[in-house]
Amino acid sequence: MKKILVINGPNLNMLGEREPEIYGSMTLKELLKWLKDQARERGVRLYSYQSNHEGRLIDRIQACASRGYSGIIINPGALTHYSYALRDAVKSQPLPVIEVHLSDIENREDFRKISVLRDVCVAQIKGLGPKGYLQALELLLER
Ligand code: DQA
Repeated sequence: MKKILVINGPNLNMLGEREPEIYGSMTLKELLKWLKDQARERGVRLYSYQSNHEGRLIDRIQACASRGYSGIIINPGALTHYSYALRDAVKSQPLPVIEVHLSDIENREDFRKISVLRDVCVAQIKGLGPKGYLQALELLLER
């Protein structure tokens, strides 16, 4: 069975409470339960990891290929906009990575318009709320 890892970065543990008018009212736990059910229906095993720490996210990304994962879905939170370290970690490992954002980063503050990960990911999905994660899963399964 295919294994996919969903990684959520800083502040995404606060989903549901955090600016619900932007990020919605679903908690991360609810979102992951829904997504794992969707994955199971598609014959995939979905694992998840969340951290507020850049280095811990990098450690997980580095370990993915040797742990038998076939792809990564990542919402890097604000690290999206400035973490060259996270970018390097994504670029220097072999698995396809899809970048997801709940909100439409193109239509918010200027600093959010830039993603330093975008061109090292297979695709960027934004502005679809939790459904963006499902679209990312489906994209990985098409590959
Ligand atoms: C986010 C957008 C980022 O700009 C923000 O810092 C987040 C969440 C999103 O999912 O829309 O933490 O990645």
